[in-house]
Amino acid sequence: MSQQRVLFVDDESNILKAIQRLLRAESVEVLTAQRPEEALELLEQTDVQLVVSDHRMPGMSGADLLSVVRERHPEIVRVMMTGYTHMDVAVEAINRGEIYRLITKPWNDDELRLTLKQALDHYTLKQEVQRLNHVTRQQNFKLQDMNKNLETKVRERTRQLDAKNLELRTAYIQTIRALAEAIDAKDAYTRGHSERVAVYASRIAGEMKLDKQLIERVYFSGLLHDVGKIGIPDAIITKPAPLDPEERETIKAHPEIGAKILEPVAFLKEIVPCVRHHHEWFDGSERGYPDRLIASAIPLPSRVILVADTVEAMTSDRPYRKALSIDTVVSELDKYSGSQFDPVVVGAFLRLLEREGENFISKRQQFDIDAFIEGSVEAGWS
Ligand SMILES: [Fe+2]
Ligand SMILES: [Fe+2]
Repeated sequence: MSQQRVLFVDDESNILKAIQRLLRAESVEVLTAQRPEEALELLEQTDVQLVVSDHRMPGMSGADLLSVVRERHPEIVRVMMTGYTHMDVAVEAINRGEIYRLITKPWNDDELRLTLKQALDHYTLKQEVQRLNHVTRQQNFKLQDMNKNLETKVRERTRQLDAKNLELRTAYIQTIRALAEAIDAKDAYTRGHSERVAVYASRIAGEMKLDKQLIERVYFSGLLHDVGKIGIPDAIITKPAPLDPEERETIKAHPEIGAKILEPVAFLKEIVPCVRHHHEWFDGSERGYPDRLIASAIPLPSRVILVADTVEAMTSDRPYRKALSIDTVVSELDKYSGSQFDPVVVGAFLRLLEREGENFISKRQQFDIDAFIEGSVEAGWS
């Protein structure tokens, strides 16, 4: 730090001289002024760290002078030097925060030196605190800036990722649709079967209040449930008559074939078991296949698909029979609820049917899966 300066203000030149003498050996530079105005002028031109002022002076009192110094140069430490007779004024100045210390006249040399040293240390300390505050503030600004940048970057990356995800989802949905269409195309009678099963199943899932992810899974599993029929001879798939026992055994392989087809596709991992088990019976009986799983061991989407699949098949024309009536469908579901079908799923379907009547089946409703995934449509049906 450059040399420190102290300004003494006193109308008595003897006092100023005595102080200069006293401090000659000290490392501080001593400035003096006999009039307050002179002192203020000096302060405008010179860097001073400490002002020590007498109180009683002609023109302006020491308390007033120090008050002006405080206003104009708040960083300068202020000390008052006064005789006991003016103690009340000095104490008031201290209380108003205008001065740092009081030196009484006549002074003790050692005490004066000590007070000056403490006052100058006080100045240094205040400066240091200020500097640290400034540095801290700067650092905070910098941190805030960094945070803002980071947030922007994260937001941008998230947006890019979202866009990529959407792209992937779209490609994924297109792939699944193409697969489903390929299955249904094998037989004119089953055209649209997979799509309708997917729609019915996801609507039932919605009625069951399943969470969004599960409804999505139900939809895609519905689309792909019969993908294994690709591996069944066309003669059986398109046979214009009910199947004989041997043909029925052959066709029973389609859930396993389907699972095998989908297994290598990473993004279909969750769908594979749903496809594999869509012909299990709820009671675990031998009529179910391929693994005769029981109740909750059967993936929930499979249980939902089985009901949707049955409803769709019964309400569609076949080469050897016309579509069955909704009453027949309902009594069939009732009859096998708890054995073939999960009663909770049957219950949800019956509620939908009661609310919407045959419209539920005849209006060929759509499920806007893209809007559903994007979240722009709550339930996604129209
Ligand atoms: Fe099937
Ligand atoms: Fe089916």
